[in-house]
Amino acid sequence: MTSSDSVQKAPAKDPWDLPDVSGLVVGVIGGTGPQGKGLAYRFARAGQKVVLGSRAAERARAAAEELGHGVEGADNAECARRSDVVIVAVPWEGHGETLAALREELAGKIVVDCVNPLGFDKKGAYALRPEEGSAAQQAAALLPDSRVTAAFHHLSAVLLQDPGIEEIDTDVMVLGEERADVETVQALASRIPGMRGVFAGRLRNAHQVESLVANLISVNRRYKAHAGLRLTDV
Ligand SMILES: NC(=O)c1ccc[n+]([C@@H]2O[C@H](COP(=O)([O-])OP(=O)(O)OC[C@H]3O[C@@H](n4cnc5c(N)ncnc54)[C@H](OP(=O)(O)O)[C@@H]3O)[C@@H](O)[C@H]2O)c1
Repeated sequence: MTSSDSVQKAPAKDPWDLPDVSGLVVGVIGGTGPQGKGLAYRFARAGQKVVLGSRAAERARAAAEELGHGVEGADNAECARRSDVVIVAVPWEGHGETLAALREELAGKIVVDCVNPLGFDKKGAYALRPEEGSAAQQAAALLPDSRVTAAFHHLSAVLLQDPGIEEIDTDVMVLGEERADVETVQALASRIPGMRGVFAGRLRNAHQVESLVANLISVNRRYKAHAGLRLTDV
């Protein structure tokens, strides 16, 4: 017996061994826009229970009915209360105010921020720099009792919403502070055929991920595409 045999290391955890998230309720705040509706549609189509949120319950119910697959509509506060995992899909301009108002309803929940703070001028899209560092860090600052993560920044709402498309050929970068929460969001992303959720760092690195959308918009405009991302060798 050597000294290295006596100190037995726990086997490294398989990073692709992700939890079963099929029973979790997914909420989408700002779910009546293209991104929220697209994500709601894909998760519901994958068998997830989805509650779509809006500032007006009626608008949410109308959008939910349009999507089918058992999606339900509610105002943003009820959407947050009823969900285990809550995706934030409002425009950057309404981000801070929306989250500050939902602090209680979002306490204890996994919050997934997919907001890209961008500006547009005649040269195209460019990244804004939020005071807190990123939209995700602003969410974490406003929601101290929530488990804030960031993901789904680089998806095309056009592809998400197209019922003729079976698979979304892309990776999803998932950021967060707690491994278990990140893995839940990775697992959720992986429920959508063609998609893979990949851990991509802590929230302090969310700014680059949010900003990269300005580059993808440039790609899309030049090549008339709906570009996604693939991470190789993982
Ligand atoms: N579009 C994409 O392809 C895409 C891809 C990745 C990430 N994202 C990110 O996802 C977010 C949503 O994108 P989107 O294109 O779906 O946006 P959007 O259509 O402009 O907004 C989504 C919904 O947010 C609500 N809303 C609008 N202004 C608001 C405000 N000031 N405060 C609170 N709620 C407000 C509206 O719903 P109600 O009026 O019903 O409340 C609206 O339908 C953005 O932050 C974007 O950066 C978008």
